[in-house]
Amino acid sequence: KRVAILISGGGSNMVRLVESMTGDHPARAVLVASNDPAASGLDKARAMSVPVAAVSHRAFKGDRAGFEAALLQHINATAPDILCLAGFMRVLTPAFVQRFEGRMLNIHPSLLPKYPGLHTHQRALEAGDAEAGCTVHEVTPVLDDGPILGQARVPVLAGDTADTLAARVLVQEHRLYPAVLRRYAAGDRSLLTL
Ligand code: GRF
Repeated sequence: KRVAILISGGGSNMVRLVESMTGDHPARAVLVASNDPAASGLDKARAMSVPVAAVSHRAFKGDRAGFEAALLQHINATAPDILCLAGFMRVLTPAFVQRFEGRMLNIHPSLLPKYPGLHTHQRALEAGDAEAGCTVHEVTPVLDDGPILGQARVPVLAGDTADTLAARVLVQEHRLYPAVLRRYAAGDRSLLTL
C-alpha cells in the first residue's frame, strides 16, 4: 500500500509512521505534504528520503477549495492508497474528504468522542478527568467524528498542566498510530486498544 502523510508542523507522528513502514510492512510512505512550506517535519521527511510537497494555505486566503486543489495535485501525483493526517491542522472540505473516504486516517489527542476539536488536554483537565489519551479514526466529513480504529489511554496526574498531559499523550500517539496503520494497510479495521 502507498501511504501519503499530511502534516502542519514538527511531524513527530509522521516520523514514527515512516520509520514503521519497513521490512514486511504492507505499506510504504510515498509522500509527506504540508500546508506550511516552513514545517520542520518536511526536513525530517527529506532526511528519511521521503518525497515532500508543500502548499501554503496562506497563499489561498479564503479560497479553501483552491488550496485543496493545489494540495490534491501533489497527492494524486503519488497515487496513494491511504492518506494519513498527522498533526495536520487544517479542516478539509467534505469534497476533499469524500475523495478519500474509507482510506483516510487521523490521529486526535483525546479519547473521542470526548473533546473533538482543539485544546483537548486543557478541556480534560478542566473536566477533572482521571484519564486522557489519543484516538486514531477514519476521516469523515464531520470533524473528528469517523469510525474509531484505535485508542490509547494515559492517567491524568496531580499537578498536570496541558503541556505535561500533552507530552504523556504524544508518547502514546507514537505507539498507537503505527500499530493502527500496519493493521489498516493489511485490511484489518478492528478496534485496537493499547
Ligand atoms: C500534537 O499535539 C499531537 O497531539 C497532534 O498534533 C500535534 C502535532 O503532532 N496529533 P506532530 O508532532 O506534528 O505529529
